[in-house]
Amino acid sequence: MSNALQAVADWEEAPGLLEGASQLELTARDCDLDYWFTAVAQGTLKGMVHGHSPKAHVPSYMMQPGPLRDAIMDELAFRSIAEDKATRAITYIVADAPDVYTMEFFATQLIDEARHSRVFRGHLLELGVPENELFATIDRISGRDADAILKPLEEFAFPMIREGHDFIAGVVILTILVEGVLAPSAELSERKWRLLDPAAAEIERGANIDEIRHLTVGSAVVRQYLLEHPDETPRVLDIITRGRALWAQLPTADVIVRREMWFHEGLQQHARVVGDYEIWPGKRLIDTTPEERLVAAQTWSMEMQNSRLQYMGLAEAIP
Ligand SMILES: [Fe+2]
Ligand SMILES: [Fe+2]
Repeated sequence: MSNALQAVADWEEAPGLLEGASQLELTARDCDLDYWFTAVAQGTLKGMVHGHSPKAHVPSYMMQPGPLRDAIMDELAFRSIAEDKATRAITYIVADAPDVYTMEFFATQLIDEARHSRVFRGHLLELGVPENELFATIDRISGRDADAILKPLEEFAFPMIREGHDFIAGVVILTILVEGVLAPSAELSERKWRLLDPAAAEIERGANIDEIRHLTVGSAVVRQYLLEHPDETPRVLDIITRGRALWAQLPTADVIVRREMWFHEGLQQHARVVGDYEIWPGKRLIDTTPEERLVAAQTWSMEMQNSRLQYMGLAEAIP
């Protein structure tokens, strides 16, 4: 395996999610099962305990009731449900993969997503949620949000991927409409929590390293498909248009803003911890407003999606 390929999954050397997902080119053939064992299981994840390095700690203030704790619990409860649902949905993509390379790649992505759900949930245990209350807690915090946001996405996808066995629709939905939309908030999150909850930030970093692979390989699969089936382009564009129209109706903003307000209140209380830490070059985290952070994530989202759509041969879908 080339060093460059290995570096994409290296804890120290891997680029940030948005940079990696905007600039790299990886195919399902590059990222087969052998690659996953070497570069991910024995690479990214080597020595990790509960999805983070053993030295990353959970600060004592995170164990106390307060807005910072509310913010991380809300985020991880929701994301653990989302990753669980993604894992199950990917089973249809694996089942309908047209060749062994895509089958192996999406099988690794399936395990990655199951792992994400597990480590996000695991951090709730690290925050002191009793094990026998874990699932009830997740449901209490995020059950309603999941019903409002994730169920409609499943209802959109299942007729195509589960009933219709439509492999490429599954990859388009997963890569462009789900992961492409969520990646920027995952990047923001990794940066926000770096000093405030180092264990959570490392868990996110690990998931984001996986995400670089998911976004780049997913894009390569769509690109190759459209090169071989140019007549399918209008149908793929239609899935994107309908998916975006659905997103526009979902109450995602309410959930994200609520979480960001809690984070902001907690950030002010623990300003000492973050000191002069910069969330992006030239901007101290403590000087950002919730709105600035959300706008930054939005902007990153647009930039990354546009570069991926261009690459896939779907420039027409760029707004
Ligand atoms: Fe994930
Ligand atoms: Fe993913």
